[in-house]
Amino acid sequence: MSAATGRIDPDASIGAIDRRLFGGFVEHLGRHVYDGIFEPGHERADARGFREDVVALVRELGVSTIRYPGGNFVSGYRWEDGVGPREQRPVRLDLAWHATETNQIGLHEFQDWLDLVGSELMLAVNLGTRGTAEALDLLEYANTAVPTTRTLERAANGREQPFGVKVWCLGNEMDGPWQLGHRSAADYGKLASRTAKGMRQLDPSIELVACGSSGRSMPTFGAWEREVLEHTYDDVDFISAHAYYQEHDGDAQEFLASAVDMHRFIEAVVTTADAVGAARKSDKRIMISFDEWNVWYLTRWEELAVTYGPDEWPVAPRQLEDQYHVLDAVVFGDLLITLLQHADRVRSASLAQLVNVIAPIMTEPGGIAWRQTTFFPFSITSRLARGESVPVPLEVGAFESARFGAVASANAVATVDEDGASVFLVNRSLTEPAELSIDLSRLQNTARVLESHLLADDDHYAANTLEQPERIATRPLEGARVEDGVLHVTLPPVAWAAIRLG
Ligand code: AHR
Repeated sequence: MSAATGRIDPDASIGAIDRRLFGGFVEHLGRHVYDGIFEPGHERADARGFREDVVALVRELGVSTIRYPGGNFVSGYRWEDGVGPREQRPVRLDLAWHATETNQIGLHEFQDWLDLVGSELMLAVNLGTRGTAEALDLLEYANTAVPTTRTLERAANGREQPFGVKVWCLGNEMDGPWQLGHRSAADYGKLASRTAKGMRQLDPSIELVACGSSGRSMPTFGAWEREVLEHTYDDVDFISAHAYYQEHDGDAQEFLASAVDMHRFIEAVVTTADAVGAARKSDKRIMISFDEWNVWYLTRWEELAVTYGPDEWPVAPRQLEDQYHVLDAVVFGDLLITLLQHADRVRSASLAQLVNVIAPIMTEPGGIAWRQTTFFPFSITSRLARGESVPVPLEVGAFESARFGAVASANAVATVDEDGASVFLVNRSLTEPAELSIDLSRLQNTARVLESHLLADDDHYAANTLEQPERIATRPLEGARVEDGVLHVTLPPVAWAAIRLG
């Protein structure tokens, strides 16, 4: 048993929590859109073909904004293909994922689905194979109220009122050699700046995200952010960050240190952005849109990579369908804690992705939909984290990580609001339970534990599957209590927990 003590001081608040931290991401990829959210003919599909069981799960997940339609997909996408009469929409080849895109779902249908799940649209424009003109066409179509040929077309297609999309991504992962239209930081920065300026001329109310690095391990990481921001600093609000984590070579302890990487990633991007701002004598602060983050067994996917024949371009094939176990969900919960610990600068984040594709929600064609293990930390944190994010400095033991040196064996963050507080905790030890005592004496309305949730299992590799969709769920955290202004909690090894105090 390891012991840890901590305290929560509301005066040390990191900042107000932006609801956009609990965003998601839907890409036209694999069975995400087709045979995921949209499956006409399924017994739970509504008249428009949307699966109601999936809608209910997305609502329960509590997703604020949803980034769409990619991802790598957007870098070859023509948005016009997805609007207008469905029977006239072109069928295209999607080069990013080597699939056939039928365009039966586009902007209008996706907004219809968002209206059902209660989330807000965050749109990405194609700066891979396209440029400023096409981005302006889409913005005019989506956000303009003045009658023009494009907006009348929108009305004829069923939406008289503008979509009113607030946040726009200027392309996707343009630093990645795999990206269609991949280019240098200077070339991308200039294109992003021109496009942003034009978009603001059309709609000054929008918020814009420039592409940062697609990972901290990219060879251009840091230099990319600096150069892109040198071109776009006055034009954009956010720089993006993307990170995916997985267990390598069976080293679960090292995997449990993943949040340290996310923490260092955020700190490095903030430092770089502020250095660019300082050199420009600017008071403006660029925020981070962590618009792709998750556990993703990328190497497994690369090993499995199916090679298609030249004429094989499947529609909605099974791609990137990772099955998440308890250990994955604990790392995932730790990543959420890390995002909250940086709530002052990470003002938007998108869990990548939502349904079937590296997703918290899985579906079987013609069959059930179920929650993966990662569903629980997301839905509970999204529901309980409100008000201000407040650090929980812990005095706790450490383990040695090959990449990061000494890593604390537990991590925690709190959120404080007018009705009480919530505490989110993770035990990163593979073997030792963690006994935590957290001083609440500086907080109001925290005399009792109102609800508690523990995600842990003796089998760290247990998962929910089609055959056993409810094998893993959270359970109340036995023994969690407040005594004399101190919260006492014992977490088993490899565990994530959330506690609501009131
Ligand atoms: O989320 C899967 C892919 O990961 C996205 O399409 C891309 O942006 C990233 O590399």
